[in-house]
Amino acid sequence: MSYTINEQNAERQQLLAQILNPVAERILEGAGIAHGGRCLDLGCGQGHRMRMLAERLDPIECVGVDFDAALVAYARAHEGNRQGVRFETGNAMELEFEDDSFDMVFVRNLLVHLPDPQAAVSEMMRMVKPGGKVIAYEPDFAFDAGDPDSLGLTQMTKVWRGMFAHPLVGRTLANRFAKAGAIVEPGGELPIERGLRPMRRTYRMTLEAMKDGIPAKGIESMEEYEAHLEELKRLEGDAETVLYKFPDSWVVATKPER
Ligand SMILES: C[S@@+](CC[C@H](N)C(=O)[O-])C[C@H]1O[C@@H](n2cnc3c(N)ncnc32)[C@H](O)[C@@H]1O
Repeated sequence: MSYTINEQNAERQQLLAQILNPVAERILEGAGIAHGGRCLDLGCGQGHRMRMLAERLDPIECVGVDFDAALVAYARAHEGNRQGVRFETGNAMELEFEDDSFDMVFVRNLLVHLPDPQAAVSEMMRMVKPGGKVIAYEPDFAFDAGDPDSLGLTQMTKVWRGMFAHPLVGRTLANRFAKAGAIVEPGGELPIERGLRPMRRTYRMTLEAMKDGIPAKGIESMEEYEAHLEELKRLEGDAETVLYKFPDSWVVATKPER
């Protein structure tokens, strides 16, 4: 999927932050992360979550890393960045930070994209201090559904599964981190929406953002794609259909003290 900075993608990322940040805040609260440490956000994108982390945790330093230099430049230029917040380019599967150098590492919606999610899990466990925590928050594209049911939603499951490298990564988080030596606490949530709320708009915008990939990968023909998009446009203005989004899954992984 393209994360290019344009007006539509900027709006989609802001909507996603609006939907996902409150969940992330609850996870942080439950994890009991101490204030004033060093934190790292991998795959930070436009930096919306980094700013939220910095706001909540009042860290000495908060580093955001993303593969995409244009996103890093965009995140750096944001006027809402607090002191101690910095962004740099890097590859989550191979990083240059020292061992045991962060109190908290956060990752969201990144492992689902990576060719080797376990390499990123090992990197996160390497960089977090003993007693420190990694929070990984990823999708699990188990299903999407509605009441009444809508092809716009059920077809999304097929699209996610075809487009992402590890579409069922959510359910694997706890075992991946346990394998890397962490003490794990898994969690999850099934978001449900009724009314003209942001989730239905993000479905439509996300399908549009994936326009080039879907027919090219043979997930939908161009005709099917257009019909799918039309149904999501209809759903965007339909307040009564209840939307069941795919589950969100997370793990709070603590590095054991030596
Ligand atoms: C779906 S976006 C998630 C953005 C943000 N984490 C959030 O939850 O809003 C995935 C991000 O991961 C970045 N990314 C993809 N592969 C990466 C890699 N190997 N290392 C670091 N970042 C990567 C992309 O550039 C993109 O910004």
